[in-house]
Amino acid sequence: MPELSGKHIVLGLTGGIACYKAAELLRRLQDAGATVDVVMTEAATGFITAATFQALSGRPVWADTWDARAPNRMAHINLARTADAILIAPTSTDFMAKLAHGMADDLLSTLCVARGAVPLLIAPAMNHEMWTHPATQRNARQLRQDGITLIGPAEGYQACGETGSGRMMEAAQILQALVAFFQPKVLAGKRVLLTAGPTSEIIDPVRVLTNRSSGRMGYALAQAAAEAGAQVTLVSGPTALPCPDDVTRISVTQAREMHAETLARAPNTEIFIAVAAVADWGIANPSAQKLKKHDDDAPPVIQFVPNPDILADVAALPAGPWCVGFAAETEHLHEHAQAKRQRKGIPVIVGNLAQQAMEAADTELIIFDQHGAYPLPRQDKLQAARQLISWIAAHLPA
Ligand code: CTP
Repeated sequence: MPELSGKHIVLGLTGGIACYKAAELLRRLQDAGATVDVVMTEAATGFITAATFQALSGRPVWADTWDARAPNRMAHINLARTADAILIAPTSTDFMAKLAHGMADDLLSTLCVARGAVPLLIAPAMNHEMWTHPATQRNARQLRQDGITLIGPAEGYQACGETGSGRMMEAAQILQALVAFFQPKVLAGKRVLLTAGPTSEIIDPVRVLTNRSSGRMGYALAQAAAEAGAQVTLVSGPTALPCPDDVTRISVTQAREMHAETLARAPNTEIFIAVAAVADWGIANPSAQKLKKHDDDAPPVIQFVPNPDILADVAALPAGPWCVGFAAETEHLHEHAQAKRQRKGIPVIVGNLAQQAMEAADTELIIFDQHGAYPLPRQDKLQAARQLISWIAAHLPA
């Protein structure tokens, strides 16, 4: 099901060059299943026309407090009472100031003051001097205190030719922040520790022994746990993935480092999810210099040493966290996963077929506990992660 299915979003636009990005944002909101009503300030209509948004949304665009199309002449009340959220992107310096003071001198600002319990999210967009101005920063603090969610701004090149903080976040990031906002906060107050990605065992300064894990499942779970309100720490092997918002990442290379960083943090967490594809063996004799070919073409002798089992060691901690393991198998998934769960002394293991999951965007998970197996449908890893997090929250011992 699309992520915003059934949601009614009021998309507000205030004056700023980033108004052009709002057209893409509208499309993305609709693709995610939302019904979107667009409200523009007069300044916004100086940057982009209402016709663009009417054509894209297929719905009337609202810009005037006195708009006679609302039979009761109260568009601000009508929109405020039906919205699941108001999202203002871009939000100008001036509009932030208005919000901070509760001013209501046009349709969008009146709608915000009249919104009652409807959540308000804003994506600031302005020149970096305007963003860092003490008054704007004071307003931003006030807005956060008033329960308004700020999305960004981002750093980078600005339309004025200058560089700094104040760029509006990209449409995809704003959509993601809104979707995250709507996730039930089922892990609020919980600390979640995860391992993710491959490990990379060092042979010499230019060679490593690794595996095909992309880290996507672990990163998706870290994101889903953060969206669910948890305080999340991710101990990650080498991957190219960006760290999800509101997640603390500890980057490691070899299994032994992952073991040390994880065990140091595990006693202070309620939930541990081991997603990393940890190398079972490390290199006993890594070379300080690059290994060279010899005249006799004899291959180098690489000695292996078993790596510690991170999950089993966390599970054995007295008063340690509730542990969830992963089992990527190539055959006999049910038998191998349940045997692994018992061997490692953990309450839950999540199984998948390695050939389907490795490096893929989709996955088909089966959750195993002492009572049996719970299959999840094949889906995008982030969707699967959100389902798994809600299952974990529902089964976590009190
Ligand atoms: N795991 C771990 N530390 C290791 C090996 C595995 O924490 N040294 C964790 C993985 O993160 C995963 C679970 O244990 O959650 C199962 O990993 P897997 O590699 O499938 O299991 P192994 O115990 O290595 O068994 P095998 O390789 O024989 O299938």
